[in-house]
Amino acid sequence: MPEPQDILAPITESAIFLTVCVDPGGEEAVVDLLPDLGGLRRSVGFRAPEARLSCVVGIGSDLWDRAFGAPRPAGLHPFRELRGARHTAPASAGDLLFHIRAERLDLCFELARLIGERLGPRLRVVEEVHGFKSFDERDLLGFVDGTENPEGSAARAAVLVGEEDPGFAGGSYVIVQKYSHDLEAWNALTVEQQEAAFGRTKLDDVEFADEDKAPDSHLALNVIEDEDGEELQIVRLNMPFGRIGSNEFGTFYIAYARTPAVTEQMLENMFLGKAPAAHDRILDFSTAHTGNLFFVPSADFLDDPAPAAPAESEGEDAARAGDEGEPPGEGSLGIGGLRRSPTP
Ligand code: HEM
Repeated sequence: MPEPQDILAPITESAIFLTVCVDPGGEEAVVDLLPDLGGLRRSVGFRAPEARLSCVVGIGSDLWDRAFGAPRPAGLHPFRELRGARHTAPASAGDLLFHIRAERLDLCFELARLIGERLGPRLRVVEEVHGFKSFDERDLLGFVDGTENPEGSAARAAVLVGEEDPGFAGGSYVIVQKYSHDLEAWNALTVEQQEAAFGRTKLDDVEFADEDKAPDSHLALNVIEDEDGEELQIVRLNMPFGRIGSNEFGTFYIAYARTPAVTEQMLENMFLGKAPAAHDRILDFSTAHTGNLFFVPSADFLDDPAPAAPAESEGEDAARAGDEGEPPGEGSLGIGGLRRSPTP
């Protein structure tokens, strides 16, 4: 299996999420930038190894076609907007996602700055969220968020593409949404009503028994199984963000999965409902403002960003080089290999 990007790095204190649009003609700049990301990360992170700086990059469907052509990751498509009777999950613009994490915001910021310097005129940051870990791992609704994430080999199996798409093994799919919360309305609920909305206790974070979960609770709608009764899992690395002065209290939702179909099924349950639930109760207090899906290629792909499937041929390479006017990789800073340092 090719080396994955650092998707499963442990939760950190800080994160910056950069969503970038690539205007026509900017594809070559992307192909140049990707092999240099590892070097940029090392430039910042090497000096503070204890802060565990990492950067995962995802590529949207339209940009994939423009920059890399065929073959393409089997599950990659634009984010599908969901319009429920009451709540909508909108799709928004975005060709690249940078998920930058560290124990220190200054390191995230410095890496984001260096990436920003490399974007050039055709690559525009369209969204930037600076997230922080809240105490007890709580979201801004006050509930511990992330408890039921799979760990170890289960986490790898949940997020990494395997033999089902061999040309893209070691990759992953990431779905992101920026939510804002109506804390005034939420805090007008009793703790019991809030717990019913999630299906977990608030203080000690214990899951309700299935028979006690309201059908429209977050957990009732998000615990899903395959036809053999096996739970389908994703890895969520949500981060709170906000600004007191503008009354902004948010959750940046980010979930990695081996196939986008699992996260999409959860989103359908939440926004379109699953009988007898009309929608997820937490949506009455949480509005989705953005929605994007990206493919997260392996670290090996970033090192040499060309289609990785066996179908790749010199002919295709030459055609792509012709499109872009120069062979892939030329024009990079040559900072160094993209392969990540071995994990200690
Ligand atoms: C406003 C945004 C959201 C907030 C604040 C939020 C918060 C939470 C919290 C507090 C939990 C319980 C603890 C745990 O993490 O296991 C949870 C569980 C979960 N959430 Fe969310 N969530 C949000 C959006 C979503 C979305 C959009 C999805 C899927 C598309 C999702 C999928 C899940 C899943 C799969 C679980 C674990 C269920 C289990 O195995 O028990 N969440 N979420």
